[in-house]
Amino acid sequence: MRSHYCGDLNESHVDLDVMLCGWVHRRRDHGGVIFLDVRDREGISQVVYDPDTAESFAIAEGVRNEYVIQVKGRVRLRPEGTFNEEMPTGRIEVLGKELFVLNAAETPPMQLEEHAEVGEDVRLHYRYIDLRRPEMAAKLKFRSKVASTIRNFLDSNGFLDIETPLLTKATPEGARDYLVPSRTHPNRFFALPQSPQLFKQILMASGMDRYYQIAKCFRDEDLRADRQPEFTQIDIETSFMEEEQIMAIMEEMIRHTFKSLLSVDLGEFPRISHADAMLRYGSDKPDLRINLELVDIAELMKTVEFKVFSGPANEKNSRVVALCVPTGASLSRKVIDDYTEFVGIYGARGLAWIKVNDLAAGMEGLQSPILKFMSEGVIQKLLTNLDAKTGDIIFFGADKAKIVNEALGALRIKVAEDLDLIKGAWAPLWVVDFPMFEEDVDGNLTALHHPFTSPACDSASLASDPKSVLSRAYDMVLNGTELGGGSIRINQPSVQKAVFEALGIKKEEAKEKFGFLLDALSYGCPPHGGIAFGLDRLVMLMTNSSSIREVIAFPKTQSASCPLTDAPGAVSPTQLRELNIRLREQKTPS
Ligand code: AMO
Ligand code: AMP
Repeated sequence: MRSHYCGDLNESHVDLDVMLCGWVHRRRDHGGVIFLDVRDREGISQVVYDPDTAESFAIAEGVRNEYVIQVKGRVRLRPEGTFNEEMPTGRIEVLGKELFVLNAAETPPMQLEEHAEVGEDVRLHYRYIDLRRPEMAAKLKFRSKVASTIRNFLDSNGFLDIETPLLTKATPEGARDYLVPSRTHPNRFFALPQSPQLFKQILMASGMDRYYQIAKCFRDEDLRADRQPEFTQIDIETSFMEEEQIMAIMEEMIRHTFKSLLSVDLGEFPRISHADAMLRYGSDKPDLRINLELVDIAELMKTVEFKVFSGPANEKNSRVVALCVPTGASLSRKVIDDYTEFVGIYGARGLAWIKVNDLAAGMEGLQSPILKFMSEGVIQKLLTNLDAKTGDIIFFGADKAKIVNEALGALRIKVAEDLDLIKGAWAPLWVVDFPMFEEDVDGNLTALHHPFTSPACDSASLASDPKSVLSRAYDMVLNGTELGGGSIRINQPSVQKAVFEALGIKKEEAKEKFGFLLDALSYGCPPHGGIAFGLDRLVMLMTNSSSIREVIAFPKTQSASCPLTDAPGAVSPTQLRELNIRLREQKTPS
């Protein structure tokens, strides 16, 4: 039906007879001639009909936006002075000879240009219209290229693409499971995988050495801009490789992808320990495009009169930090109040600050609500420690370390965005030396990565002081987003059992949930490790999109539903009976 894509035509096609198929993007009637902008997935071409071709001209008069048409015509150069340099096809047009309407269209519920105003729900409801927008089509095409570039890289490095089941047993990655009831086994459920973690480890026990899969993962968790209940991982596992080799080849894969598709040289990725990242950036996924750091000032604040600072300065698990921000002295009271509210979201009870209006003027040159609580000596030391300059503002956080890290870590990013302090386009890094465990609110240990991550010590140290044990895990971070995470795995059943024990998983429970893994480890499982990247996040960053929903063809909403299909939906009583399920009555909120 077609000889060329609309978006592919250029001056080299002048005088060629072409057939185009696509959608009417816009119709303009210019007294005697009709211009149709015809759009397909590659772009837009302008087609002109004049009354000389009476039959087609009449059809052109009748078509409306989003009609699907077939055009036959000849490419010609646009008349002098009417070039549109903004359009890739802007130097040519097609003189239409014939026109066929392949399908009419109702008036679209949203015009393509109006996507911003209609809201995301409407866009997702009519996703097929939303995806016709050239910007969205470009993103999906780019996503396809990222996937194929990565596949080619992995294929040429000897990785095998192996599928793993979706109907399976729970794989803990820290979220709730999506469950699927079994009809043939009443009262039993499959879980959709949170990741292929256990299967890829078992593939290593099977001798499959280098595995990869572009795999769907399912996690019932709180959604944000970079999280979806159903998302895609580039999942990778290798045997007989240490973390250095795995990190090197994965870094190479990401560098290669950026070079091939964006002509960007990412260079060598710096490494930072988890502890250092938390200290300096309050985050385990620091955005290194921002040259601002949290500075610990607890030592200095231990004896000050200001209890807000001296309290946490003398407490365990607490921090007092300063964040010195160039040009921040110009911030208004209103903006500082907004920031105070902002850090409140993370539990901070206030946001003390000092403006350095004139460093040379000593105390006179400073402005702050907390100066009166501290001696001049302390303030001077503080300014020296921070290397503060005229025009800076210094923000303070004092509280439990978790609160300070989250609050000031987030403020660091927000202030940098507001004051235009984000420099450079790409800042990749590795975060290494993660703790093996973290404590939950009840003081129980949970795995910081997942329970199959190898500790960086022997079983004896693991048992005696689990809280201070580090793991052999590594995360790849790009521009403040965790792009991927992986580790060397446990391949000894005894170590795996010791980790389950540290996590408070009883023997029976371990056997019931992970017996198959323990078995696989005990029948000759090689040393192995791997990583998984979030494909959606990678494409989001590479296309400079605001959310992963922008790079997923059919994403779910914030409340994990699909406005297009209206999923999740009700099921029939027959289906429920077959599944041996009786529904509870939903209490309607009074
Ligand atoms: P992890 O849980 O860190 O590790 O996930 C790996 C990567 O997957 C992406 N990701 C997500 N993307 C979108 N929506 C989500 N809800 C979501 N959750 C995670 C992130 C993340 O870095 N099995 C391990 C990997 C391993 O150890 O090899 C795992 O799943 O980019
Ligand atoms: P107050 O004496 O409570 O009015 O606090 C004086 C200043 O310290 C105000 O600017 C508060 O916003 C700030 N502040 C209070 N609590 C904290 C805290 N935990 N961390 C940082 N600043 C705080």
